[in-house]
Amino acid sequence: MLKVAVLGLGARGKNYGTHLAKTDGVQIVSVCDKYQVKIDKVKTAWGVPDKACFTDEKEFFAQGKVADLMVIATQDRDHYGHAMQALDLGYNLLLEKPVSPEIAECLAIEKKAREKGLKVLVCHVLRYASYYRRIKELLASGVLGDIMLIKHDENIAYWHFAHSYVRGNWRREDETSPMLLAKCCHDLDLLFWFTGSKCKSVSCLGGLYHFNAEHAPEGAADNCFDCKYNKTCIYDCRYQYVGRNKGPFKGIHKFLWGTYAFSTSRKKKDILNALQNDPRGKLWSRCVYKCDNNVADLQTLQMEMENGTQIVMTANAFNEHDHRHTEIRGTKGELYADDMGSVIKLKLFDKCTKRIVVNIIPVIKGHYGGDEGIIKAAVGLLKGLDDKEGRYTWIKDTVESHRIATAAELSRHQGGRRVDMSEIPDIQE
Ligand SMILES: NC(=O)c1ccc[n+]([C@@H]2O[C@H](COP(=O)([O-])OP(=O)(O)OC[C@H]3O[C@@H](n4cnc5c(N)ncnc54)[C@H](O)[C@@H]3O)[C@@H](O)[C@H]2O)c1
Repeated sequence: MLKVAVLGLGARGKNYGTHLAKTDGVQIVSVCDKYQVKIDKVKTAWGVPDKACFTDEKEFFAQGKVADLMVIATQDRDHYGHAMQALDLGYNLLLEKPVSPEIAECLAIEKKAREKGLKVLVCHVLRYASYYRRIKELLASGVLGDIMLIKHDENIAYWHFAHSYVRGNWRREDETSPMLLAKCCHDLDLLFWFTGSKCKSVSCLGGLYHFNAEHAPEGAADNCFDCKYNKTCIYDCRYQYVGRNKGPFKGIHKFLWGTYAFSTSRKKKDILNALQNDPRGKLWSRCVYKCDNNVADLQTLQMEMENGTQIVMTANAFNEHDHRHTEIRGTKGELYADDMGSVIKLKLFDKCTKRIVVNIIPVIKGHYGGDEGIIKAAVGLLKGLDDKEGRYTWIKDTVESHRIATAAELSRHQGGRRVDMSEIPDIQE
């Protein structure tokens, strides 16, 4: 029986734990979250006895090593301390991304894991999704020839951006991470994986352009409930989280999944009560132009990889839907891919091949199946299976995406200066 301990029972930890609890041969033996209510939601379903449930991380770690694997799904700036303690105790880790906003901490985790011979798999779940795997397979097959150019857009829906990066958990880079790391370390990891090459240089422009006081409508209140624009503003919290019965935006954009962040129930009255009266819930009824956010809402990057591939990447908050769009130009063909609908189109330059739809991958919930995929990978590895295809997201590979994000942020704060990757610390073996 493979034993697992889970630290952090928010959206991610609960998700991974639920997949693990359903996996044959796996037993969740201990959990820890600051909030008892989060433990109560899972302990019976996962079969964890009360004595192995903790609200204090010190007591949780003081048990010593009670499992083969620890899932670490706390917030970005807590990963380092938690990962180092767990490695010291001899745990293999399934560690949420970003590993840490500080590159020195990423490198320290990698070093300790290597020295102790422990496995650290980072939750870059997209690599385990069939849609992204298919793109990687096509590139690796050589059908496109040499990869000359990649254009990749991380299009974040306006309502998702407002929820997470203006009002919510990832609004301040000093408290969590810069947006490029929090949201786009997945994209940077995919680009590193697609090209099979480290990055040579990066330049980046961007900043917080829209979600600031300058763009607040005349006379807007601090809070949606008191605001004269609350029938027409697309960021009105009732429009976002419970939908409207009448008016210009009738019925649309019920952003129910976002309510996990502040409401324990999905009933309309409970959501509204949290938004209006709960100290935490009230964060999500703040005017999006009057929050204490400081992360960028628009960034453009230019990257040159060591193998010569050039990459243009964008991340922005101004989209109706969340979707990543990727175009790849090779010496023998071009590829268009969009994860909205999971469609991949390939056009080869030889005369007999017309534009063909290569694949429409079934759209699976949970990062296109990546959430479940990484759990299967982690369990398989601990049971002794090999990473035959070399596609797993080891901490060693993850460091590159975090180095690129570090370089891009350095560039952005210096007006787009071209940053050579030799300026950013790397793994010293
Ligand atoms: N892999 C992905 O695609 C993906 C997607 C979203 C978020 N994330 C990352 O996953 C991590 C968790 O995100 P989330 O959305 O689950 O956040 P969350 O805030 O919902 O969950 C974090 C949980 O950790 C608990 N916690 C925090 N500090 C603790 C401590 N010291 N001791 C015990 N419990 C503690 C909190 O009470 C909370 O329940 C973040 O680092 C985030 O950036 C990854």
